[in-house]
Amino acid sequence: MQLLAINGSPHKAGNTVALINELMRGANENNHHGEIVHLVDLHLDYCNWCGKCWNETPGICPINDGFMTHMEKVLKADILVVATPSSTRSVTGYMKNWLDRLCNSQLNYQVSSNKQVTMKSRLPIGKRAILIVQGCTELFQETIEPMNVVMAALEIPVIERIIIKKVGLTDEDTVGKRPEVMKQVYNAGKRLK
Ligand SMILES: Cc1cc2nc3c(=O)[nH]c(=O)nc-3n(C[C@H](O)[C@H](O)[C@H](O)COP(=O)(O)O)c2cc1C
Repeated sequence: MQLLAINGSPHKAGNTVALINELMRGANENNHHGEIVHLVDLHLDYCNWCGKCWNETPGICPINDGFMTHMEKVLKADILVVATPSSTRSVTGYMKNWLDRLCNSQLNYQVSSNKQVTMKSRLPIGKRAILIVQGCTELFQETIEPMNVVMAALEIPVIERIIIKKVGLTDEDTVGKRPEVMKQVYNAGKRLK
């Protein structure tokens, strides 16, 4: 199986990436492979609600910023590992923007003449997701909710939700120094079938 991990942290070697790497290590043991995309490297523009991806060029975002090239990887992936630190109780701005761009372009949203709204994912069926959120507090409902909403809208079943609390209050709390946390994510990768 092909994994694609999306790192929503501005840090390319922080707690989020440490968790992703450990999950990938578990997955590799069963011959599943993949790569990490650091959203900070993509420099994605915001969705400007031009609406072209809905009807004019269905599923194709016309913004010329590399998003559609990135989408080739998303389309190929069997498992999306969507990971973000908590920022102001929500996902980071990088992650929110990625979720917006993904959902707005890949959700077929139609309003019929009698004002019935139908929504259907444009993504190929069979994709699954693992969500990872972490941060220094114990409050993650608002952080994971935008990810839940987009996965549900795009009909991507979430097979694991990994929530790691109290990360990074001191140097001792970084995920790499918490063996039970590393084991949790490693096992999530190893369980993949
Ligand atoms: C600007 C900023 C805002 C943050 N907001 C929250 C927050 O609302 N809730 C929380 O639990 N942690 C919050 N944190 C802590 C980070 O989520 C935490 O340090 C996390 O481990 C960073 O992940 P990273 O190393 O992958 O970047 C915040 C950190 C920063 C720098």
